[in-house]
This record gives sequence, structure tokens and C-alpha cells, in this order.
Amino acid sequence: MIKKYRYGSPFPTEATVQEYPVTPAPDAYFTQSEKDGAAVFRYPLGKEDAVFGLGEQVRGINKRGWIYENYNADDPNINEARVSLYGAHNFIVVNGRKTFGVFFDSADKVTFDIGYTDPDELAVTAKNVDVYIIEAESILAIVHEFRMLIGQSYIPPKWAFGYGQSRWGYKNEADIRTVFEGFRKNDFPIDMIYMDIDYMLDYKDFTVHPERFPDLSKLAADLKAEGVYLVPIIDAAVKVQEGYSVCEEGLANGYFCTDSEGKPYVVAVWPGESLLPDVLNPEARNWFGSQYKALLDQGIEGFWNDMNEPAIFYSTGRLAEALDYIASIEDRNLDTHAFNKVSYAINSLQNSPEDYAALHHNVDGKRISHAEVHNLYGYNMTRGAAEYFEQYCPDRRYLLFSRASYIGAHRYGGIWTGDNSSWWTHLRHNIAQMPGMDMCGFLYAGADLGGHCYNTTEDLLLRWLAFGVFTPLMRNHATNGSREQEPYLFKEKRAFKNILGMRYALLPYLYSEFVKAALRGEMLFKPLCFEYPDDKRAKTVEDQLFVGNSIMIAPVCEQNAAGRYVYLPARMKMIRMRAGDRYTERVLEKGEYYIEVALNEIIFFVREGTVVPLAKPAPNVASLDETHLTWLKFIDAPTVYELATDDGFTRSGIAEGLVEVTVEP
Ligand code: GLC
Repeated sequence: MIKKYRYGSPFPTEATVQEYPVTPAPDAYFTQSEKDGAAVFRYPLGKEDAVFGLGEQVRGINKRGWIYENYNADDPNINEARVSLYGAHNFIVVNGRKTFGVFFDSADKVTFDIGYTDPDELAVTAKNVDVYIIEAESILAIVHEFRMLIGQSYIPPKWAFGYGQSRWGYKNEADIRTVFEGFRKNDFPIDMIYMDIDYMLDYKDFTVHPERFPDLSKLAADLKAEGVYLVPIIDAAVKVQEGYSVCEEGLANGYFCTDSEGKPYVVAVWPGESLLPDVLNPEARNWFGSQYKALLDQGIEGFWNDMNEPAIFYSTGRLAEALDYIASIEDRNLDTHAFNKVSYAINSLQNSPEDYAALHHNVDGKRISHAEVHNLYGYNMTRGAAEYFEQYCPDRRYLLFSRASYIGAHRYGGIWTGDNSSWWTHLRHNIAQMPGMDMCGFLYAGADLGGHCYNTTEDLLLRWLAFGVFTPLMRNHATNGSREQEPYLFKEKRAFKNILGMRYALLPYLYSEFVKAALRGEMLFKPLCFEYPDDKRAKTVEDQLFVGNSIMIAPVCEQNAAGRYVYLPARMKMIRMRAGDRYTERVLEKGEYYIEVALNEIIFFVREGTVVPLAKPAPNVASLDETHLTWLKFIDAPTVYELATDDGFTRSGIAEGLVEVTVEP
């Protein structure tokens, strides 16, 4: 059952696809008060109450004990002190004395104080907001109701379930070909190579550097012939330059964000002075989406949308003020206070609330300050592209994922979790993020495997890939200047080959479970207590997950660990996989175990009564042989498995592609 009520006059986010009447009185769950013109929703937390959700946010699976401010933030310093990351995913489930879900639908900031100020209280503060309270018989049923409310999740082409190699630093065609050769020579599977900002000319969206990539169409075609797709990045901001058609067309039509008087508001990102497409104006959004044609026409079928919180290095107005201030300082002997003022003048330029307030959108002819609709920017950038793809080739699936997001964007694309670091704690955080994102509909999701910032190590990369085998987006990506982390550059090549091969062996399962979860509004990654709600021990487990209906995973995420403790909430069959086609099985009773896991293997657990289809590892998704599947089984009677057998490219065949296969014990 869903009840909706309203506080203030919320901006229409289009997060939901079902209409509900507004219930006049606040729901009985909350006491509602007002603070500085905002509404505060309070709920007393009992000792046993846990709070799940909030998408990709910081900290663990149970969000209790911290304060979270959902206001999309471009900041690579991801750590426990943070309150906002790149996405605003305002859905939670309270589970304990009572179990219910709440979605705070607001384009503006929403603050979730989940036992931070008062350990025994949940207090959510929002200004103009539609609140949906969802009741059902279990956490999974609540999530399902919510997912029906927000509409079906995006399904990418099947090749996007292969492995992707990325790095900020592939400068030219030769670099891309070197990466491809590195994989082929070592017999490592690969489906995608990503192109970061260096492929563009002067960081101009939809351009290709003529010397670095003299013939992108040919490069894309050559790689496609080998089963590999090129995936370029698209940034939100458009360089200001005379003669650059995207800039000129946008300016001529009033498609960029402005100041409060309607004059283009100049901000700087990679290319220097730039303009932000006004993606909240449907006409401008469609226009920006149609620019992707320049690359689609060259054989590109996938994109990652970046810097769309939107990231602002500085605005020209505020930079001038800061530089004037610094120039005005006559005394060059700065004490700590004077020096702090100088640092602040520069450091406060980036992503400043003043710029977000000064920037305006044109919505139905009305000027709206960006600050109030901030969380919708990345969502609508992605939506513009997705809607254009549908025009470009209506039945074809394209790969699309974004850094910034809001619920609703899950219908148009996936997300990645932004600039994490090559730290063991970030591998663990990645595990906790997956179910949160799933609850909010972002099924096609993943982190930069191996870590984005700082230097990775061979063991961290192996362990992270071993977890990445299960994440729909399986991409290794790192920042400029960090240690190179292409798997073929490390010593234990066979270990990497085996781990990557396991992804392909498990792909029939992973893809089938993904498709079913997307079509039916279910979760792919489930915390243990979502499946075993009465198991108190299960509720404390934060580093094991169910993946689909048959498998439980327990990734190793500690340096130098020879294995890990695993809790089995029921009898299961442990699979120890040493290569996609080499594994051993062992039945384990419900309980606690220490299980050794070598760096070159993965373990997972098959639930009683279920089966898992396995293919032979293949060089890419297109060459997987899915007509000769073998099965991992933990059954004593014939069991039906629904296998996704669609063509992997079209949208229309997905539902019909699900076929029932009966597996004998
Ligand atoms: C941002 C992205 C990162 C990318 C970099 C350069 O930091 O999050 O993935 O590599 O920009 O484009």
C-alpha cells in the first residue's frame, strides 16, 4: 500500500510513473514539524530498528548512526566523513518494530539524520517534497512496490555485461590498440574499451581529436570485428568557442543555463570557460541528446556521462573576484589567518553553492534557480541521451551510464560510483553500495574496479575483480597519473585470466538474473536479512550479499587475508571456482565458517533448491556458447530455471526471451 502526501510545492521530478492522490494529513508514522521553512519528519527508532537504502551513499548497508545530505556532489575524496556523494537516492526502508519504506521525492537537498543527533531518532529534513510511505509484508515486497512506483530499470545491451577496461590517460588510437593487444595476447576476455576526455579536441563534447584519432569510425569498426566496443565519455559542460557548432547552436536557441536575468552563465570545467546545457528544458534536453549522433554515426554504441552534478571548477564572475582579492593583498608576509583567506578565496570557487544559486534553468518560460533543482541535472542529461537513442534507432539498446543521478534516471541508464580510491575500505564500500543502488532501481551499476585514485596493488585488483565478477557494470578504471592497472601488466597473469573468465562463465546466470530483476522490479543484490528477516545474525552481516535468486557471495576485502569468515543463514553448496570451467563443490550446513580463498579463485554459495547455468569462458560476450550450458545444482527434484535468451541488442525481444528450462538433479 502506498500513501502520498505533500509538503510545500515540490518541483516535478518525474521520478515516479504511477499517480497517487495526495493524502491531506501527515502519515501516522511521522511527527512533522517545521524548521527554517523546511519540514522535519521524525520517527522514533527502537533498539532493533535498522534503516536500509539511500543508494550509493557512504558507510554500510544499515545506514543507522550517521547523517546523510543528499545533494549531488562532485568530490573525489570519498570517505566516512562525507555526507553526499554523486547521486541523490532518497529511498529508505525502516526495518524493526515496524517495517515500512519512505521515498522523499524532492529535487532539492534532503537530509537524513539517522540516529546521528539523537541515536534513537530518524529525522528527515526537506523543503518542498512529496513523501511516499510504502507498506507491504516484507522488505523485499516494499522494495518491489517502490520499484513499480518508479518504473522499470534500464537494460543495457548484453555486451555491456562483459569486462571493460578504462583509464584516464589513453591518449590516442595507438594507446587503445595497445590495450586491446594486451588483452588478446594474454588471452584475457574483454568487451569494452573506454575513452576518457583525451579523445576530444580541446575537451569539446562530441568532437574527436583529428590527430590522436584520425579515423574513429575505422577504429570502432576494427574493434567491433573483434567483439570490442569503444565507449567514450561525455561531459556536461560545453566549451565556449566561436565556430564550435554545439556552443553556437546552443547559444542561438537559448539552450544553456543563464543567470537570473537570462544571460548565459559561464562556468569552467576541463576546457576552460563553458556553458551548461539547460537539460531541465525539454527542448534543450532533446537538442543536447541529439548531439550524440556525431559519435553514433561513427559506430559508437555506448557512452558514460560525467561531470553532471554538475561539476563547476569556477564561474568567471567569482574567479575574477578571487583574483582581484589576491592581487589586492599588499603584505606578502601572510600569517595563518591571512593565508587561510587566500586559500579559501581559491578553494571555495569549486562547486560553490553561490554558483548553483546564481545559475538558472528555463522551465516552461519561468526562471528557476539551479540550487532548488540541483539533484535533477545528471538525471536529465542522461534522459536526453536515452530519449535521443530511441529516436535514432528505436529498438536498439545502447550502453549509457552516468555519474550524477536521481531516482528516475534508473529508467534511462545505469550509474557508476565515481572517483573511489585504490583502498581495501573502498572495495568493502562497493559491496555495501550495491543493494542500496538496487533498491532505488539502479541495477546496472558498478564501481571503478581496482580503485580510481591513488595506486592499486596486484592483490587488491584481484580481490576487487573477484567481486566485480558479480557487478553488472564490470569496469576497471583509474585516474591520470596513478599506477597503471590493466590486468596484463601484473605478474600473476593466469590468476587474472581465470578471474575474468569466471565472469563470462557466470554470464548466462548474471544476465538472466539481471533481466528478471529489471522486468519485475526486483533486487539483484540483496543483504542477507532481506531474504532471512527473522535471522538476527543475518541482520548484522554487511559484507555478504545474495546475487539473484541462487547465489550468495562473500568477497574477501582485506589485505593479506588468506580467507574470511562467512555466515551461512541456511544450508548451501559452496562452489570454489579456480577458472570458469574448473570448480569444486561442498555442502555446508547453516552456521559460521572460516573459509580460505586464494587470490586466484572465488567462492560463492548456491542456495538449496536452486541451480546456476554456466557457460565456457569466452573472449567476449558475442562468442559465448550458450547452447551448451552446464549447471551448478543444489536440488533433489527437477527444477525450472528462467534463462534469458534474447538477442542482446533489441529491446523488444527481452521479455519473450525468458524461457523456462527444466534442470534434472
Ligand atoms: C572525473 C570522472 C573520472 C574521469 C575523470 C576525467 O573525475 O569521475 O572517471 O576519469 O573525470 O574525465
